[in-house]
Order: sequence, then C-alpha cells, then structure tokens
Amino acid sequence: MYNILVTGGTGYIGSHTAVELIEEGFNVLIADNLSNSDAAVIDGIEKITGVRPRFEKIDLCDKSLLKDYFNKNPGIDAVIHFAAAKAVGESVEKPLMYYRNNLISLINLLEEMERHSPGSLVFSSSCTVYGQPDKLPVTEEAPVKKAESPYGNTKKISEDIIADTVKASGHLRAISLRYFNPIGAHHTALIGELPRGVPDNLVPFITQTAIGIRDELKVFGDDYNTPDGSCIRDYLHVTDLARAHVTAIKRLLHDKNRKDYEVFNLGTGTGVSVLEMIRTFEKVSGIKLKYRITGRRAGDIEQVWADTSLANTELGWKAESSLEETLASAWKWEQYYRKMKDRN
Ligand code: WQD
Repeated sequence: MYNILVTGGTGYIGSHTAVELIEEGFNVLIADNLSNSDAAVIDGIEKITGVRPRFEKIDLCDKSLLKDYFNKNPGIDAVIHFAAAKAVGESVEKPLMYYRNNLISLINLLEEMERHSPGSLVFSSSCTVYGQPDKLPVTEEAPVKKAESPYGNTKKISEDIIADTVKASGHLRAISLRYFNPIGAHHTALIGELPRGVPDNLVPFITQTAIGIRDELKVFGDDYNTPDGSCIRDYLHVTDLARAHVTAIKRLLHDKNRKDYEVFNLGTGTGVSVLEMIRTFEKVSGIKLKYRITGRRAGDIEQVWADTSLANTELGWKAESSLEETLASAWKWEQYYRKMKDRN
C-alpha cells in the first residue's frame, strides 16, 4: 500500500482528496497547521471512509519540526501539497506573510523530499497564473501573466521552484494542477467548505444568503463584455477535482516514463456567468435568492474557462458532475452544517 502525505489535508480540497485517496486504497497521512481549518474534519473523513487518517498538527514553515516529521514517518511514497494561505484580498494587505507562508513551506518540503524517499509531488496550483487570458478557452500553453495579487504570485513562483527543483533532482517528479473554480461538497455532506467570516467566494455567499446568514448577495457588475454582462468562470465539483489528484498520483507512481514535470488545467471546460449561477441555484434549491447588482469588484477577471483537452486525453480525467448536482451538494452541505452547529 502506498503512503501519501497530504499537506493541508484538513482544508477544503485537501479533505475531499484524502477521502478519494482512501477509497482508492491509499494510506493517507495528513499534516496541517489548522490555521484555516478544523481538526474535526478528520472525523468527517473517518465517517465517510471508515478509516481515520494519521493526523499531525504541524506548520511546514518550521523546518526542524518538518525534519522530525519525515524522520518519524519513513516510507512516504508521494506528497500532495495543498497547505497554503489563499485569500487574495488578505495577500494584498499582508504580502510578506503570504510569501513567507506559501514559499518557505514549499522549500522546506522539497528539501525534506530530496533527503527522504518520496519522489512524487502533486502541487495545488491555480488558473490565477493565467490572469485574463488573451484566448479562451485557456490551454496550458497560454502565457503565465504577471500575477494580480501576492497570493497569485506565490502560485506562479511555487510552480517555478518545483520545475527548477525537478530539473536538478535525480529522483523527484511533479505535477502541478491548475484549478479553475472548485465548488460544492462531498455528497454525504460530512465534509465541505468552511469559510471563516464573510465569504469572498461566490458559492458560499450564495448558500449563506439562501440560509439567511447574509441579507443579500451582491453581484459584482453586470456591465462586462459577456452575454448577460456578469463575469464568467469555470466551476467544478470539488469531488471531481479530488479525483484528479488520485489520477495524478497514480501517474507519478506507476508511469515512470512520463515527463518529469507536467502541468494540467482542471475545470469543466464550460464557462458560467454569475447570473446563470444564481438561476441554477434557485432551480436546484427551490429558493428565491435575494441579490442586487453592484459595482465591479477590483481586480476581477472578466471571463475565464479551461481548455481541458490535455487533462482529458493525457491525464485521463474528466469532470463528471453537472452544475445542478454540484450546486445541490453545496446547498446540502450548508444546511447540514448549520444544523450540526445549532446542535452543538
Ligand atoms: C466568482 C465570480 C465575482 C462573490 C477565486 C480566487 C482565485 C482562484 C479562483 C484560487 C466573480 C462574483 C463573487 C460575491 C459576486 N482560486 N462574485 N459576488 O474571482 O474566480 O477567484 O477563485 O487560486 O485566486 O480569488 O472566484 O468565487 O471569488 O468569484 O458577484 O459575493 O463571482 O465577481 O465573477 P474568482 P469568486
């Protein structure tokens, strides 16, 4: 049985990936500093899979702790690296915190991976590296643009650090996965997205408005050059995204003849506008959403969606869930989660 270390494994995408890995027969170890997640997520993973992954609260920026961790856990075959801060706005206010946190942790991890056995790394990257692309849908060949935020820049720099390390290394191979917009939750509603405070992202804001925590959703602009004037994104189900990580891990572990470093876009390949998201949510939930068109949000990209051909053909992965299923899972999670909170 392969041992997979999932850093940031109590986070939103990390926890869904841990579930899919366990269900595919991998032994999962989770390391997370819990700075933006809750240890109770481990209970959710156990309830879904019947397996409790070994969890350790550890900050990857602490080099000596990470060294001890790898010494204590020999036999890690591969690492999926999610652990990072991800709030765009916060990164503009606290750039050094973002550069320190996201880059030092990666460098420490790569150094330990060079020292120990794991020769396979899957990195959690983002379509944010493309900025507003010149051509749509966006392929992996599209130029990486100057980042709009320190957060986006850490993803771009991290990819460069990984590519250079792989090139120089005798044994390390890596895949960077550039996510478009992950949404939704596990179909059991035992794990899901847990935004702290007022959510920045569209779907948690929609579900919190529907359940009555927020008064209304603000639609940031309807004067863009798109069919209905609102921004367009490529929203994919977090479980589909999680499965892509399992596919990438298998490729690294079993397929040694591939290129040493690869990059894949992960999306559905379809762009959906904010107003279409609202209409689809209303349809699946039966709730009339209170919303208002306001001014544009600074730094927003007008439209972006993925060309997923490379992931489909080369990686052998495809997003399966419909937008209706995906939004229904987000809504189910919001309702279960509030009930659970009310009970405690
Ligand atoms: C989606 C659309 C908003 C909230 C984020 C990260 C980015 C990348 C992808 C990670 C936009 C609109 C939103 C609201 C709204 N991920 N909106 N009202 O902008 O694609 O970016 O995810 O690396 O780095 O920032 O996603 O969910 O914030 O917004 O109208 O209250 O919804 O304008 O068009 P975005 P989002």
